[in-house]
Amino acid sequence: MALEKLKPLINSIISDQERSVDERLLAVCEVLESHVDYYNWVGFYFKNGDKNELKLGPYVGAPTDHTIIPFGKGICGQVAVSNKNFVVPDVSAQDNYIACSITVKSEIVIPIFVNGKNIGQIDIDSNTIDPFTEKDERFLEFVCARVASIL
Ligand code: SME
Repeated sequence: MALEKLKPLINSIISDQERSVDERLLAVCEVLESHVDYYNWVGFYFKNGDKNELKLGPYVGAPTDHTIIPFGKGICGQVAVSNKNFVVPDVSAQDNYIACSITVKSEIVIPIFVNGKNIGQIDIDSNTIDPFTEKDERFLEFVCARVASIL
């Protein structure tokens, strides 16, 4: 489905105050994973208190052992320190990469900012090689901004 068409769905989930923040984050993961065929694992990581590590939040997809990721490690840990989007067209070409599943071919990680601070990220794995474009980056930046508004 066209990414633009998902924006109203994301907006209605985020503004649903009947649901807890975690329920809304999980619903965002479900919408993304079920409507975009090359989004095969969708989850949130957040800074774990005052530790320099990320902790897994709500996600959809295969369970992962990587519930805690130190800053600097893997694609996610690098985004925690760079504060920049990280698009990986081919994970096999990355040295600093944490494999969660052998089916994963590519990954995109977009940071979430609250009051200018990088407090977490959305992480999406794909079983397709090189599927992400600038449209995914802009769309996921929108998703992260909406998520930030309820954190
Ligand atoms: N591949 C990530 C680890 C998290 S999993 O994709 C769920 C990384 O290299 O940071």
